[in-house]
Amino acid sequence: MRSRNSYAEPYRIKMVEPISLKGRAEREDLIKKAYYNIFNLKAEDIYIDLLTDSGTSAMSANQWAGMMLGDESYAGSRNFYKLLAAVQDIFGYKYLVPTHQGRAAENILMSMFVIENQKVPGNMHFDTTEGHIRLRKAQPLNLVIDEGLNTESNHQFKGNVDLERLEKELKANDSSKLPLIIITATCNNNGGQPVSMDNLRNASKLAHKYGRPLFIDAARYAENCYFIQQRDPVYRNKPIRDIAREMFSYADGCTMSSKKDALVNIGGFLAFKDNEEWYEKAVQMQICYEGFRTYGGLAGRDLEAIARGLYEGTEAGYLEDRIGQVNYLGQKLLDIGVPCVTPIGGHGVFVDALKFLPHLPQNFFPAQALVVELYREAGIRSVELGTCAFGYTDPVTGNEVYPSQELVRLTIPRRVYTDRHMDFVVKAFEEIAGRRENIRGLESTYQADILRHFTARFRLRGQ
Ligand code: F0G
Repeated sequence: MRSRNSYAEPYRIKMVEPISLKGRAEREDLIKKAYYNIFNLKAEDIYIDLLTDSGTSAMSANQWAGMMLGDESYAGSRNFYKLLAAVQDIFGYKYLVPTHQGRAAENILMSMFVIENQKVPGNMHFDTTEGHIRLRKAQPLNLVIDEGLNTESNHQFKGNVDLERLEKELKANDSSKLPLIIITATCNNNGGQPVSMDNLRNASKLAHKYGRPLFIDAARYAENCYFIQQRDPVYRNKPIRDIAREMFSYADGCTMSSKKDALVNIGGFLAFKDNEEWYEKAVQMQICYEGFRTYGGLAGRDLEAIARGLYEGTEAGYLEDRIGQVNYLGQKLLDIGVPCVTPIGGHGVFVDALKFLPHLPQNFFPAQALVVELYREAGIRSVELGTCAFGYTDPVTGNEVYPSQELVRLTIPRRVYTDRHMDFVVKAFEEIAGRRENIRGLESTYQADILRHFTARFRLRGQ
């Protein structure tokens, strides 16, 4: 990665959206009224919103201009053909099924392949992917390499799937028990960590040796390609698009949340390399759940913005700036002693709250306590990936089951914030670090049975 001092943002700002920092007393009041759950805050009450990089990108002048060319015909919109050509060009896939977002593509894929009691292995499925597997009473299998679960390991491709374990599963389960493999690149759940080209190639060999299809969850595929270019000497001088073509050549299709690396605010798709039978089957589901085959729940103008965004998302200057900014924040936090998952990932910095707040046991919700503190201190919204999101009450014993990690994700929207915003985040951490032993943690006052983090309520302990 080039030094960030040797270049500046590869864009200038034509339109701005005002944001402001509320006073401390107001922030204290707002977060209390939100039951110490940042999902209940109004976006206008937030200064810097690092909840997600999904659907939060700033579109370019080129994308906005393209939206004026939206062809809103029910069937055969010109923008569909533009997007199809982009997918064929960048991914090398013949068939395109547009959907309203990524999880809709997952729904169609799982309904085609997965039934009760089956297993679906991968490196680490995203939550909605797991959800769609479980909805079909099947079992998601996360077979990421051991280093992928070690927050301090410096492995360069922590998103890699453990090929030995994958082969064991493929040997032990025929296609009636294990119908497909899904590899998520980059791997969101362990910190936006990349999958290497070798790993994809070998996973593909295994899948095909045992006659199973391999799919890529491509939400952050361009960021994955950039890491391959930077970290694997074989690809050092290869253009991102060549790397993408090779990556996707190893799979039989992909699901895509366009809200990430296609730089738009809504949209997704499912694509198949060359299997017409799958395509026709997928279209049946698409028509029932999404819309006709040439729009899939999106406006023509959205399809156009995705087509243009796919190209912009693979530009070398854009990716260098994008990943460079995430790394800039991560390195600055590491420099002041904030424990982060390393190497710093593609779309966000993941802070280890158990190490940052070592005095708080997991039943005091340390990661959620840090999320709350970031809002109270500086109006910053982050998101908890710890006991609140992944812990649960065992229905049989009634005991709380705790996850192995307590992380806070600082997710960076694309082309939205400047490095000065990042500096402000670092300053907030500095302030909090100076008085961290006074943070007393949270107590749960309400939790729903499933997906409890969205609606959970808390109170501050000791108040
Ligand atoms: N796959 C990955 C790897 C994701 O990160 C997401 C969404 C999806 C699929 C689902 O796509 O939102 O378009 O339906 N991730 C968001 C996040 C929500 O905040 O990480 P979607």
